[in-house]
Amino acid sequence: MEPYKIVNKEVPTFYFVGVTTGKSSINKVFPLWMEVLGCPEVVLEGIDHKIHDDPQAYRATVAQIKYDPNSLGALVTTHKLDLFAAAEDMFDYFDPYAEVTRELSSISKRDGRLEGHAKDPITAGLSLDHIIPPNYFADTGGHILCLGAGGSALATLLHLIHKPNKGDRPERFITVNRSQGRLDHMRDMVARYDTDIAVTYIQNSDPRHNDELMAALPEGSIVINATGMGKDTPGSPVTDDGVFPRNGIAWEFNYRGELDFMHQALRQVERRNLRVEDGWVYFVHGWSQVVGQVLHIDITPDVFQQLEEAAASTR
Ligand SMILES: NC(=O)c1ccc[n+]([C@@H]2O[C@H](COP(=O)([O-])OP(=O)(O)OC[C@H]3O[C@@H](n4cnc5c(N)ncnc54)[C@H](OP(=O)(O)O)[C@@H]3O)[C@@H](O)[C@H]2O)c1
Repeated sequence: MEPYKIVNKEVPTFYFVGVTTGKSSINKVFPLWMEVLGCPEVVLEGIDHKIHDDPQAYRATVAQIKYDPNSLGALVTTHKLDLFAAAEDMFDYFDPYAEVTRELSSISKRDGRLEGHAKDPITAGLSLDHIIPPNYFADTGGHILCLGAGGSALATLLHLIHKPNKGDRPERFITVNRSQGRLDHMRDMVARYDTDIAVTYIQNSDPRHNDELMAALPEGSIVINATGMGKDTPGSPVTDDGVFPRNGIAWEFNYRGELDFMHQALRQVERRNLRVEDGWVYFVHGWSQVVGQVLHIDITPDVFQQLEEAAASTR
């Protein structure tokens, strides 16, 4: 074993691995959830890593969970790919999505084994299913324009690819990303599946070009802001002149920050008969899935509703 400094926690501890973990709403929500789930003794502890941190720093985080009995597991944001790459050999099991995407959002333990799961395709999917009714794409003929081709965009696309009914799959999924690498990664993932969704990969960071792509969408289309702009970085991937699809949906993946994209969309609600969604439901699904995995609790629809109500009480 490498010489890690393991802290023997006195109380059962659930970690949150991120960048600015202290700012997240989960700090208020978590104690309420532990009451709902009947384990109020479990505490949340944030671990902040800098973006693209030293691999040894990620390994130390994983070692703390692996070797301390009271360290139960973790939810990982931002570092999903980097942590997987740095500590892959420390795990005993990865779920199929983690194997395919080579990222993980959940670290948990079962019978002494350290497990990694990529929950995002499940949570992005649960969130999309919350926003649109079954057969949405057949009924509307809408496409998806996904601005950003990172982990959450890929998760959304994988979820759609796995939809068994044709009416639940869009004819086209257009994704735009600043760097070419993410687009190539997405193309490699998609190539593993036999899908009838026509995926278009566009390398671009000019918001005016995104306006053009948005204007060309059919009615009923969904425009997603998965760039992090408006929270992680300033601005919006579209301009104030961008026109959202009539009868469509604008889905901002975040729920906190300046949310410029969401405010641009909100100004067109009446004119374009547009529905606007933020990332709150995504946040609640994301956390509840990992909490269930780490604490070995089945998050049934009834339990989810209780968690959602508890979370809503803190908004
Ligand atoms: N509500 C929730 O619970 C929830 C859940 C998941 C994600 N999110 C949020 O959704 C956002 C995306 O998450 P993620 O995990 O997918 O992050 P990510 O893996 O970092 O992906 C973001 C992608 O957007 C691209 N990008 C950034 N600015 C761009 C621009 N101006 N034009 C085009 N592409 C641009 C980045 O490209 P480069 O390759 O050039 O960097 C990157 O590939 C984050 O802000 C995250 O907080 C929220």
